[in-house]
Amino acid sequence: MKKLEMLYEGKAKKVYKTENEKQYIVEYKDDATAFNGEKKGAIIDKGVVNNTMSSIIFQLLEDKGIPTHMIKLLSDRESLVKAVKILPLEVIIRNVAAGSMSKRLGVEEGTILKETVLEFSYKNDELGDPIINDYYIFALELGTKEQVNTVKDYAFRINDILKDFFIQKGLKLIDFKLEFGLYDGQVILADEISPDTCRLWDVKTNRKMDKDRFRRDLGSVEETYQEVLNRVKQ
Ligand code: TMP
Ligand code: ASP
Repeated sequence: MKKLEMLYEGKAKKVYKTENEKQYIVEYKDDATAFNGEKKGAIIDKGVVNNTMSSIIFQLLEDKGIPTHMIKLLSDRESLVKAVKILPLEVIIRNVAAGSMSKRLGVEEGTILKETVLEFSYKNDELGDPIINDYYIFALELGTKEQVNTVKDYAFRINDILKDFFIQKGLKLIDFKLEFGLYDGQVILADEISPDTCRLWDVKTNRKMDKDRFRRDLGSVEETYQEVLNRVKQ
């Protein structure tokens, strides 16, 4: 499958058309940004880690009955995916307080939440992906009731599958972000699942094993991405 015209370049990936109008090629870059693009840098071979890890996790989710955009891995930085129309929503699941939740609500990082939190934000870089809820989604027609119900059901099921998966790799799944798209009118999981989009803490030491090492200048960024990939592959 050949890459044709580039459709879109995001902060971490490029998306290309292919000869098949129902399939795109995603190419993962090493570029890294944080705080809505304010902090910029690169993480060597992040593109390889995120592409490989996403393909492994999407396969696991497909095996467990969650439809995803993944068709197949094409190379170390490229995957062939279904051409979806992305819903303009970021879906965040939180098991443990961290990041923006800790900051916004004054809850100490590491506090185990009594109930899993599902949070929506409006996917809009200019506005800094503001937090919204179901009422805003329906009022602004960002998704239908049926689509939102499906998204919530998949997001909680994905959380159960991934918590189990990562614990076997010695990693606690603190929180993560998902994006969904429409394909033949159906909601399917899209985007990526990687150390860029998940918070993962080592189960024994609580060491941060994700993009927070870059966001917060914690050091050993590349080594940590490789370590996560190695554990996921085992
Ligand atoms: P937050 O605590 O900064 O809101 O992040 C929650 C989770 O979402 C965390 O696992 C990182 C992920 N995330 C993204 O994938 N993309 C983003 O742009 C942001 C802000 C967070
Ligand atoms: N990817 C996001 C950005 O640049 C933020 C993040 O992952 O922290 O803006």
